Amino acid sequence: MRTAYQLILVVAASLHFAVGGSSSTSIIDTDTNEIPTFNDDKEARSSDYANYFSAYDDLYHQKVMLTDHNRMKAYHDAIMKNKDLFKDKVVLDVGSGSGILAVWAAKAGAKRVYAIEYTNMANHAKNVVKANGVEDVVKVIQGAAEDVSLPLQEEDWDFFCGEDQSQKSEECKGDQKVVDIIVSEWMGYFLLRESMLDSVISIRDKFLKKSGLMFPSHASMLISPIATEKYRQEVEQDYSDAMTSWNEYLERAQLEYGVDMSVLNDKYLKEQKQYYLMSGHWLQLEAETVLSTPVVVKTLDMATCTLDDAKGVEEVPFDFSITMDDTDTNNIDKDARHVSGIGAWFTVDFKSRTDDIGKVHAPDVEIPVHLSTGPEVGGELHTS
Ligand SMILES: C[S@@+](CC[C@H](N)C(=O)[O-])C[C@H]1O[C@@H](n2cnc3c(N)ncnc32)[C@H](O)[C@@H]1O
Repeated sequence: MRTAYQLILVVAASLHFAVGGSSSTSIIDTDTNEIPTFNDDKEARSSDYANYFSAYDDLYHQKVMLTDHNRMKAYHDAIMKNKDLFKDKVVLDVGSGSGILAVWAAKAGAKRVYAIEYTNMANHAKNVVKANGVEDVVKVIQGAAEDVSLPLQEEDWDFFCGEDQSQKSEECKGDQKVVDIIVSEWMGYFLLRESMLDSVISIRDKFLKKSGLMFPSHASMLISPIATEKYRQEVEQDYSDAMTSWNEYLERAQLEYGVDMSVLNDKYLKEQKQYYLMSGHWLQLEAETVLSTPVVVKTLDMATCTLDDAKGVEEVPFDFSITMDDTDTNNIDKDARHVSGIGAWFTVDFKSRTDDIGKVHAPDVEIPVHLSTGPEVGGELHTS
């Protein structure tokens, strides 16, 4: 779920930050490298529902996304300024939510849009589709993307057969790769936090044509040292308060209940330290907080990325250079130039395919669009 801002890792005593291992909470089964689909597994379904999907059932949470102007403008521009790509095409909207991207795709001229949404928001999407007069084009399908089959009916084969419409043949009726464009807003905090990328990859591999486009088409994860001393000190104070409160409790437990609980000290201290000082925090960062040119720690080509790519960031070497201008007596608030943490955010692009197959077979995106969730856009984004 995305409600806010960039991720920062606050620096406690010393700067220690490594990009390595898996930073996302991937749902890939690490033994088999498979995406666990629900496949009638009621336990998996209810656990995913409780932990993730339930928030998307509420219009309140959908509204947070719908009122995120930078996000909305990027998707709107990408679709509406590239109408020629959508004209008479088959589009799949993965994780359709309220259905807005599907409605835009239909308005851009798609001849069929499949809008897949797991939660009951699918019912609202149906109403939105109808209210906007595109119900003949947009088919809302409620279900987990990994489980869904497209309702490819006999009369639809005119839409689907072959890379080019002339090759209608019996064999192509078995072909599931009928989709020209997949649109999806799958990104979470620091891109991968939400783990929805797994679902998008699975849908892509099942339904996207060789010449198909992914919207967005590319994604990057960036980091930079940042100066947010006030916030860092607040976090340290919270940690200190949590420990003071624990110590007060220990005293009370002894005095009032006659029980010595101090044996739990180390465990409590470790937990709190982990929570306050060693975990990421979600924060809205201003551009001035960024101390160095950001480093890209991962890029994803959405046409070719794999489930392994969805797991996190591999170990990458990087250097930051931070200038401390001691001669600038006008403006130097030295504390403001201390490294308080590492900021992390992402960007996505809607542009032409850059992989070998795509460069040959896919249409060009004439009007590319860039969406950044970084501090340089004023920290106003709600897509983390
Ligand atoms: C970030 S929201 C985007 C909603 C909408 N597309 C928009 O841009 O406003 C992601 C949506 O995808 C849905 N979703 C996530 N994973 C899914 C999956 N595996 N199958 C179907 N829907 C999924 C969520 O329930 C949520 O409504």
